[in-house]
Amino acid sequence: MQDLKNKAPIGIFDSGIGGLTVAKAVIDALPNEDIIYFGDTARVPYGIKSEETVRAYALQITNFLLKHGVKMILIACNTVSASAKEEIIQASGDIPVLDVITAGTHNAVSDPNRRNIGVIGTLATVNSKAYVKAIHAHDPTVTVKQQACPLLVPLAEEGWIDNEVAIQTLHLYLDEFKDSGIQSLILGCTHYPLFKDVIPQILNGENVEIIDSADSIAMAAKEKLETLDLLNTSGGQFQCFVSDRPQRFHELAERFLGKELNGVEVVTLD
Ligand code: DGL
Repeated sequence: MQDLKNKAPIGIFDSGIGGLTVAKAVIDALPNEDIIYFGDTARVPYGIKSEETVRAYALQITNFLLKHGVKMILIACNTVSASAKEEIIQASGDIPVLDVITAGTHNAVSDPNRRNIGVIGTLATVNSKAYVKAIHAHDPTVTVKQQACPLLVPLAEEGWIDNEVAIQTLHLYLDEFKDSGIQSLILGCTHYPLFKDVIPQILNGENVEIIDSADSIAMAAKEKLETLDLLNTSGGQFQCFVSDRPQRFHELAERFLGKELNGVEVVTLD
């Protein structure tokens, strides 16, 4: 018999539906876990808001997940990871909190031969320099070049991931990396994994390793649950809460989750 704590759900949250790319990676890596996802669809995007506002929103969501008895919290949103990680850890007490920036960075620096790393993200994530600081905490001699790509969020939501407009926009942003010698590119935003197949083409077939923070955090969650002996062997439910049900919600959400989404509940946060 598994302990009640093992059977508790994993809480995953994001500013909106983009974090469903993280949920998808977690479901693939941990198919027997129950998951509670919260997407702040009424207040998205966070990437252009102030740190104070993002922190206040993130703490409200953390409380919501804690009230649902989660055994672990995954911060799927890069912008929240950049602005509010410490506050969320503090509010969560002994519940482990993992975030996409720490996980993506860990993956990026795991090969000591990669000395030159590119990062793309929202304006808030890039301005916070959170990835730069996290990489330099491992090794201050690694070169990090960042680029904010704000238009990629609306393009991904529109499903424009490989048409002419998307390709041109990606060129405008990513041509910055040409001749910079980057060996890895961290996709530092929930929406960017949707461009994963096109980006290598834009980078001109250069031998750049693409680091998807969604896969990185899913692997980190699996390792953490194994270490803490908290794995569930008999779950697999996915529950989705949102703060609003915007136009075309289902179509978009299913694009990010990569499968059918049932039983979405709209809630108001305290
Ligand atoms: N989820 C955000 C992130 O990963 C992107 C969308 C937003 O700006 O809220 O940074």
